[in-house]
Amino acid sequence: MRLVQVEHLSKIYGHRLNRVAALNDLSFHVDAGEFVGIMGPSGAGKSTLLNLIATLDTPTMGDVWVAGESLSHLSEAAAARYRRETLGFIFQTFNLLPDLTVADNITLPLTFVPPRPKDLAARLQSVATLLGLNNLLTRYPDQLSLGQRQRVTAARAVITQPKLILADEPTGSLDSMAATELLQYLTKLNLEADVTLMMVTHDAFTASFCNRIIFIRDGAYFAEVTRHGSRQAFFNSIIDMEATINGGGRRRGAADSNQP
Ligand SMILES: Nc1ncnc2c1ncn2[C@@H]1O[C@H](COP(=O)(O)OP(=O)(O)OP(=O)(O)O)[C@@H](O)[C@H]1O
Ligand SMILES: [Mg+2]
Repeated sequence: MRLVQVEHLSKIYGHRLNRVAALNDLSFHVDAGEFVGIMGPSGAGKSTLLNLIATLDTPTMGDVWVAGESLSHLSEAAAARYRRETLGFIFQTFNLLPDLTVADNITLPLTFVPPRPKDLAARLQSVATLLGLNNLLTRYPDQLSLGQRQRVTAARAVITQPKLILADEPTGSLDSMAATELLQYLTKLNLEADVTLMMVTHDAFTASFCNRIIFIRDGAYFAEVTRHGSRQAFFNSIIDMEATINGGGRRRGAADSNQP
């Protein structure tokens, strides 16, 4: 089933001499259950794309359909509801509230659609278990490692049971151990919580946890690479495609240098 359809999407910023086509007739789709990576050079339009899918910005032309709904036809109220109920967000910086405990940060999005208290406790429990946060629920964000903070962000993104999680460089602030751990948890969310993920990353190792990578350049679709075999083989094809998109030759490395 198609969850996300990006149709001839263009986004022009500025005008006249300052005109920048951040996206230029971009089309692709994502099926429910996928873990898709979005890659491409800096300025390719990756964040713009996520912002349009998130309805945080409006396209100049084209449209995005999510779960059969055209985003450009949503009223303000419907867009707010779509963001709250259909989407979860994970960004590079954690945006956790320092004065709230881990538990309260995770359940914050439910403030707007409160389930019954018993359900709330059960949901918190299951999400905390899924993300390995059970022992940290009463701590405050500044008492956590960066990797743990990002797992709290992931828990907060998934507590509303969204169909789609949008992640922009979620491992960007993490060292490779914490990044690997987060990616394993995101894979678990994808497989066990039945969440579709779209993740922007510039890092081939991070991308190798996805099942498919869409490469964009100059705001347009460039190519895609689908995982068929091992993660190492997938990593190698991602590196090869990066070399092609950059027009240079980057050496292959090991996808699992910090992992047995
Ligand atoms: N609000 C804005 N006003 C004007 N130009 C913008 C705006 N936002 C983005 N752009 C331009 O649109 C293009 C795409 O930007 P975008 O942030 O989507 O790139 P990106 O692929 O996410 O890059 P990076 O990998 O560096 O994060 C860039 O040329 C950028 O300068
Ligand atoms: Mg960006």
